[in-house]
Amino acid sequence: MKNRLTLPRPDDWHLHLRDGAVLRAVLPETARHFARAIVMPNLVPPVVTAQDASAYRQRIVDALPDGMDFTPLMTLYLTEETDPEDVAAAHASGLVTAVKLYPAGATTNSASGVRDFDKVRGVLDRMAEIGMPLCVHGEVTEADIDIFDREAVFIERVLDPIRRATPGLRVVMEHITTIDGVEYVKANDRDLGATITTHHLVINRNDILVGGIKPHYYCLPVAKREEHRLALRAAATGGDARFFLGTDSAPHTDPNKESACGCAGCFTATNTLSILAHVFENENALDHLEGFVSRHGPAFYGLPVNDTTITLIRGTPVSYPEKLQTDDGPVTVFDPGFPLVWQVESPTGKSPS
Ligand code: DOR
Ligand code: ZN
Repeated sequence: MKNRLTLPRPDDWHLHLRDGAVLRAVLPETARHFARAIVMPNLVPPVVTAQDASAYRQRIVDALPDGMDFTPLMTLYLTEETDPEDVAAAHASGLVTAVKLYPAGATTNSASGVRDFDKVRGVLDRMAEIGMPLCVHGEVTEADIDIFDREAVFIERVLDPIRRATPGLRVVMEHITTIDGVEYVKANDRDLGATITTHHLVINRNDILVGGIKPHYYCLPVAKREEHRLALRAAATGGDARFFLGTDSAPHTDPNKESACGCAGCFTATNTLSILAHVFENENALDHLEGFVSRHGPAFYGLPVNDTTITLIRGTPVSYPEKLQTDDGPVTVFDPGFPLVWQVESPTGKSPS
């Protein structure tokens, strides 16, 4: 049995870092293991212009503890007012890596998202021209569509028409949760990739609802039936370069999760690599972990694979803190529900105690 695995340093292609006290607390959790991350722009107010992205990037860099090496890859929040030239200039200067599309009302802080897709046509055309990726939260928001069907309906009614109308547009379907998402990616071999979260490889909808409601397993897109989880596991562990890790680690403090109207998001930054090693090992696919966490994402984004490495070691069960303390309150770390035996070796070559 393999008990040691050295990989190019991984990247997280979908991450929420927030701002202020929560940013300061969660950033080291990611930077400890990951070299880069695509940083989501759904702050309040959102990161809409190049100027917003530049200021947010600086706040992230300022929050990074001394001695940690981490590059935030910034995104802009697409609104119906977004200026195609501002986007193109931000991309050309290297400040911004991608644009994020939230349908209005789809999730946390998405009120400024897109209602009328014709109004963003100019931006999408310009992005296709310059090869800038569009990261998509793929759920429709119409009240008559069941929440468990929102991804499949989005593909048919919104995503496929956008892609047909905008040849060459590079799209990342973020945090796919369904067989429909997996199959749509597999049916398209150009300009389309998908991220898969850690938690959607682990939980299905029963985990959220059976035996009492588990607010820390509630996220959007919500976890689906078991058959969908199995399809995601097959896609993530199968070695197909169109699928790569985007944790969607999304911290909310406990009072905001454990509430009559709890926020969506699972906080997985702390233990993601331990969980993924467990999942890939269980699927007899440890050899494919490197592609999923370290190689497929850079290939899609046209960036180099990191030249530093991390080593995962298998040993006695590892314990992670149940909560991360922040000056805004505690944030619960995602509980995979099984013991974790893989951990990232510390830079000194020792396993962290
Ligand atoms: O669960 C989620 N949390 N899904 C999202 O799309 C947004 C995120 C957040 O910002 O909390
Ligand atoms: Zn997200």
